Amino acid sequence: MPSRSNKSEEYIKVCKQEDIPERGGIEIMVYDYEIALFRVEGKIYAINNLCPHHHSPILHEGFIEQCAVVCPAHGWKFSLKTGKQPGNKAGVSTYPVKCEGDDVLVSLPKAKYSF
Ligand code: FES
Repeated sequence: MPSRSNKSEEYIKVCKQEDIPERGGIEIMVYDYEIALFRVEGKIYAINNLCPHHHSPILHEGFIEQCAVVCPAHGWKFSLKTGKQPGNKAGVSTYPVKCEGDDVLVSLPKAKYSF
């Protein structure tokens, strides 16, 4: 269950760093957000897990190429830094990530989970 950071309200604790394999991804669900978390060379990235091609929640299963993920279904590629496709084409949303000790925290737009 995600919990909000005491230090910064906009960041939500989502998992431990050790939960994310190097050059691999995991899927997490936070409120209405389907998020794919990746670790590349020790840095953690968060992007929307829904591939815009077929709106399939499978990007966390994709292949890492440099600092991008390649969708396992049909090969669309998304930068983990910007979410964009090659040629600066629109892609997926990215979310700020920070680590506090072993905890991984993600900042999400508040509109979906504020009451
Ligand atoms: S579903 Fe991702 S490229 Fe087709």
